[in-house]
Amino acid sequence: MADPPVFAFLCTSIVVLSLLPLSSAADTPSSAQSIRTGEPRHPDFGSIYQRGRDLVSPGRKFELGFFSRGSLKNYFLGIWFVVSPETVVWVANKNSPLTDSNGTLELSNEGELVLLNRSKSVIWSTNSTKVLGNPIAQLLNSGNLVLRERNSSYAADYSWQSFDYPSDTLLVGMKLGWNFRTGLERHLTSWRSVDDPSPGGYTFRYKIDGLPQLEIASNGSGKVYRTGPWNGVGFASIASELTAVVQSFSVYNGTYAYLAIETFRDDITAKTILRPDGVAQCLLLKSGSAKWDPIYSTPFDPCDSYGRCGANGVCRINESPRCLCL
Ligand SMILES: *[C@@H]1O[C@H](CO)[C@@H](O)[C@H](O)[C@H]1NC(C)=O
Ligand SMILES: *[C@@H]1O[C@H](CO)[C@@H](O)[C@H](O)[C@H]1NC(C)=O
Ligand SMILES: *[C@@H]1O[C@H](CO)[C@@H](O)[C@H](O)[C@H]1NC(C)=O
Ligand SMILES: *[C@@H]1O[C@H](CO)[C@@H](O)[C@H](O)[C@H]1NC(C)=O
Ligand SMILES: *[C@@H]1O[C@H](CO)[C@@H](O)[C@H](O)[C@H]1NC(C)=O
Ligand SMILES: *[C@@H]1O[C@H](CO)[C@@H](O)[C@H](O)[C@H]1NC(C)=O
Repeated sequence: MADPPVFAFLCTSIVVLSLLPLSSAADTPSSAQSIRTGEPRHPDFGSIYQRGRDLVSPGRKFELGFFSRGSLKNYFLGIWFVVSPETVVWVANKNSPLTDSNGTLELSNEGELVLLNRSKSVIWSTNSTKVLGNPIAQLLNSGNLVLRERNSSYAADYSWQSFDYPSDTLLVGMKLGWNFRTGLERHLTSWRSVDDPSPGGYTFRYKIDGLPQLEIASNGSGKVYRTGPWNGVGFASIASELTAVVQSFSVYNGTYAYLAIETFRDDITAKTILRPDGVAQCLLLKSGSAKWDPIYSTPFDPCDSYGRCGANGVCRINESPRCLCL
């Protein structure tokens, strides 16, 4: 049997949109040193907003703080959407939870972020290779947490960025795959369960041994789902036509090999997640809404066959009727 067209619709779709204006916020940078759980934030991270004890990106889209889920009573440092705090998109200490709610995130003088527990042991740090003279930590409105020189002439010259260390979520602006210059490979790893961000049983990678392929692999059963091979233009099974709202695309050249998603409208946000059950799912969030709409999942998705709803249709996983016409 031929491989299923696994990623055919990972994030390529047309959706019905409401025409709500984008909310905007004035940019009032502040400068700073540590964030603690249960305490007001010490003023000293740069160019980030304070909301309660957490850090909020300038456009108020993302928030960095501590969270705990379910009955585990473990605490994690993470980034989530302000409008849907349950949507954690990145986790720092996924391998080393805080065992109680007393944690501190510090920006060291050398420019490392360091997470300390109650007894002041380092349980996570950024471990970047570059020492900064006048470091600043910023949560950007893309959801990227970055470290850089405060007065760098080139603002995107980051010594470390969270986008280089994905959890289970691919956001717009992130690259899933390879940077050949640095040797860095970015892949998604599923959570152990919906309440436990520690590494689970599945990975989603851009494979470059042999012909480039996208692969979801399970560590236990060895079960693997792949796309077709790279044909020089696109992955054989990825729909490459542009759509009105969101698309996934791939770059393969001397420097990079990656998959990414992009949206064509400011009032819509997209993400692809690798769920704890190994299903990759693309979801959209319309401005003004707090509810993510799953658009496509793969594998095991009734929307998974190409053209199921026709050229102008939208396939909705959890709703009836499945096909909506525009
Ligand atoms: C966290 O623990 C430290 C050291 O035991 C203590 O000084 C601090 O007050 C605690 N913070 C909270 C919010 O409990
Ligand atoms: C802090 O972390 C260290 C090292 O992992 C551990 O030995 C210690 O028990 C932790 N302290 C608390 C209060 O969790
Ligand atoms: C930091 O990175 C170095 C090499 O880049 C590695 O040897 C070391 O184990 C890392 N430390 C931590 C805590 O990840
Ligand atoms: C950084 O830049 C600001 C404004 O350009 C300047 O006032 C400040 O002295 C600079 N700081 C350092 C350490 O270079
Ligand atoms: C596979 O993933 C599970 C988590 O779901 C983990 O407990 C186990 O150690 C992993 N096995 C290997 C070989 O990595
Ligand atoms: C590879 O693609 C990236 C992203 O499109 C581009 O920025 C870069 O210049 C390209 N590099 C080469 C060597 O073509």
